Amino acid sequence: MGVMVINEHNFSGKPVRYYFDADFAQLEQIVPKEQSILLTDEHVYTLHRQRFTGWRTIVIPAGEQHKQQSTIDTIIRQLIEQEADRKSILIGIGGGVVTDMAGYAASIYMRGISFGFVPTSILAMVDAAIGGKNGVDVGVYKNLAGTIRQPDFLFYDYSFLQTLPQAEWVNGFAEVIKHACIKDRGLFELLQQHTIGTLQNNPALLHEMIERNAAIKTAVVLNDERETGERRLLNFGHTLGHAIENLYALPHGHAVSIGMAAACTISEEIAGFASAEKQAVLELLQQYGLPVSFGYDKAKAFDLLKMDKKRERDAVHYILLKQTGEAFIQPIGLTQLQDLFVQVL
Ligand SMILES: NC(=O)c1ccc[n+]([C@@H]2O[C@H](COP(=O)([O-])OP(=O)(O)OC[C@H]3O[C@@H](n4cnc5c(N)ncnc54)[C@H](O)[C@@H]3O)[C@@H](O)[C@H]2O)c1
Repeated sequence: MGVMVINEHNFSGKPVRYYFDADFAQLEQIVPKEQSILLTDEHVYTLHRQRFTGWRTIVIPAGEQHKQQSTIDTIIRQLIEQEADRKSILIGIGGGVVTDMAGYAASIYMRGISFGFVPTSILAMVDAAIGGKNGVDVGVYKNLAGTIRQPDFLFYDYSFLQTLPQAEWVNGFAEVIKHACIKDRGLFELLQQHTIGTLQNNPALLHEMIERNAAIKTAVVLNDERETGERRLLNFGHTLGHAIENLYALPHGHAVSIGMAAACTISEEIAGFASAEKQAVLELLQQYGLPVSFGYDKAKAFDLLKMDKKRERDAVHYILLKQTGEAFIQPIGLTQLQDLFVQVL
């Protein structure tokens, strides 16, 4: 199997190479090993230790709770110890937490060095690694500090998925279902015919689905890199999702799923989203092991949501569905949103 460059996309004039169906052993064919520093977390490192042999590697603790500025400081200190210079390339190998921190650390170290990603979770493959937005949480505020800067490459070796815990498959499929809801009715219907189990038993279809999702995210970002319009659609389910994720230490996918269910209810209430379609979304989420409700403290969630980056003055830019596969941005005034929270959610 040769490394396949399926795609090269230009983000603001910067080419990003996508290597699909690649084999980790081929990484040294695309980056000079002596200039590269790998960044991974302790789970991925422990499970795939042999792959890191011969590479300079920085290992950080695993988990969202470490996606904070203090970990970035540790990474930067280690880059200095490893004598990383302006020609060094930082390669994040892991889930979205690792790719977010690799992209952010690389963007600020020496005012910016090159970086690339080897996403190892479904979520990172279909979402987090794509688009150039990278950053850290600040306390409970998700992704509040960060940068927008593109990687040089994305390198997909699907064999990493063999060690991905089942719960992380579920998390990743929340974003896959999100893509289907906002952009791709055909994908929604395909997902309805499957479960995580049947896709795991059909690698060809799974890989095709990952690439289809990478293409959806890429297309949306290419249309709107700086998030002034269409890119906001990717926030479907994330407005409430982010608010409750850190508040209750929920898995990202669960929080987004609950957020998508809430956005469907608001869509039904104020945007004419058919209740049968809403029902189909709720059923699909559950088919992939995701929750659609949760007894969160509405007042607390609403307070956090007001800090959301999607807020402008007195309105939150909520992402709603007109129909399955078609999302739109609806500014909702804080007072109306609070009423919706109390009355329909
Ligand atoms: N930058 C963006 O545009 C963007 C988009 C979506 C999500 N994100 C961020 O991504 C993060 C979520 O990503 P995630 O779900 O991948 O989280 P994660 O990186 O925490 O990975 C989830 C867990 O799976 C483990 N893991 C990853 N790959 C593995 C493998 N192959 N085998 C065994 N274990 C493996 C990790 O160690 C971790 O314990 C959040 O912080 C979110 O904010 C960023």
